[in-house]
Amino acid sequence: MNAAAPERIPVSGPPHESTAWVGAGLLERSAEYFRSPSGRFLLAAPRAARAAAESVRRALGPAVLAEIAVDDAEGEKTLASVERITNAALAAGARRDDAFVVVGGGVVTDLVGFAAAILFRGVAWNAVPTTTAGMADAAIGGKTGVNHRLGKNLLGAFHPPAVILVDPRALATLSERDFRAGLVEAYKDAWIGDAALAARAAVRLADVLARDEAALLDLLGGSVRVKAAVVASDPKEGGRRRILNFGHTLGHALEAAGGFGRLRHGEAVAWGIAAALEISRRRAGLAASDAEAVRRVLAGLGPFPEPERDPQRLRAYLARDKKTTARGLASVLLDTIGSARIDETVPIEEWLEAARIMSLS
Ligand SMILES: NC(=O)c1ccc[n+]([C@@H]2O[C@H](COP(=O)([O-])OP(=O)(O)OC[C@H]3O[C@@H](n4cnc5c(N)ncnc54)[C@H](O)[C@@H]3O)[C@@H](O)[C@H]2O)c1
Ligand SMILES: [Zn+2]
Repeated sequence: MNAAAPERIPVSGPPHESTAWVGAGLLERSAEYFRSPSGRFLLAAPRAARAAAESVRRALGPAVLAEIAVDDAEGEKTLASVERITNAALAAGARRDDAFVVVGGGVVTDLVGFAAAILFRGVAWNAVPTTTAGMADAAIGGKTGVNHRLGKNLLGAFHPPAVILVDPRALATLSERDFRAGLVEAYKDAWIGDAALAARAAVRLADVLARDEAALLDLLGGSVRVKAAVVASDPKEGGRRRILNFGHTLGHALEAAGGFGRLRHGEAVAWGIAAALEISRRRAGLAASDAEAVRRVLAGLGPFPEPERDPQRLRAYLARDKKTTARGLASVLLDTIGSARIDETVPIEEWLEAARIMSLS
């Protein structure tokens, strides 16, 4: 195989066909990949992703109908921003057969993807994630949306991008902290769904951290493959798709209890995985050597800031978690590296105990 040839990964089938391309240098050639029924594009990007957006703009040339500036603070992921984006699109003369190109992190792909879902009852969009979290997670799987004052991601739609370009060169300007936090999600995908990938990516951790392109392509491409396969088995998140939430049961509580902003999402997930390893050892027969292998990679991705461990504070957030079903907390446990299961019988107290003893060193 030609090493330079991009990998094509179908993410979901018709009627919402979505294709991810994974390769270095795709940004420069992005015009060959993007889809728009009219051939015209609305290019939306935040200032932080301007280097990547500039490559895309050069590639698209006169096919760009309008450039729409987007603010990518989490607090700007609102209906008011959706209105501003659709106003700009309409003012530029956008039509039903035009398509968005969205360049940015998860905030931007969620926000503009949702604007695409409702403009003219849905126009096509193309995603260029510029964070590791976006590549491994936010831009894959079709969920778009915005926050409501009563909670995160309460308003949204399933509206997969037609095309997702995963190009490690889009990460060139990403901060070290955001880079590492997002990698937790990529490794998480390997741990729940691809033992061989997990083994390769553990050995190449130093190369991944050095942003070596081949190592990143292997990990990020593998992560997209795992997420795509899981999403294909459960597009609307009723059952199997929940295994993607490995580390998120406690992770969400740690993120919220510490106050959003203290821990990055991926950092909270790293601690959540550390706790899930304890419970998986007891309940899912996870071998000590597997738990240790996962912990070693997480330690290498860190060190991450200390999380909230106070059971009083965490209990309320765990009880409120949206993955709590009538039967109990939907917890994701690891059987072995590469295979996860959902267990709805883990009591909150067991998570609180795991949070007390979890360690990443
Ligand atoms: N739709 C989904 O399935 C899904 C899944 C996971 C997360 N999300 C959402 O994604 C969001 C988080 O996304 P994220 O982790 O990518 O964070 P983010 O979008 O907030 O980006 C993180 C930081 O990196 C900056 N940045 C982005 N690209 C850059 C680049 N190339 N160079 C320099 N700086 C850059 C941003 O300005 C920001 O400060 C949340 O709103 C979350 O709800 C959605
Ligand atoms: Zn996550």
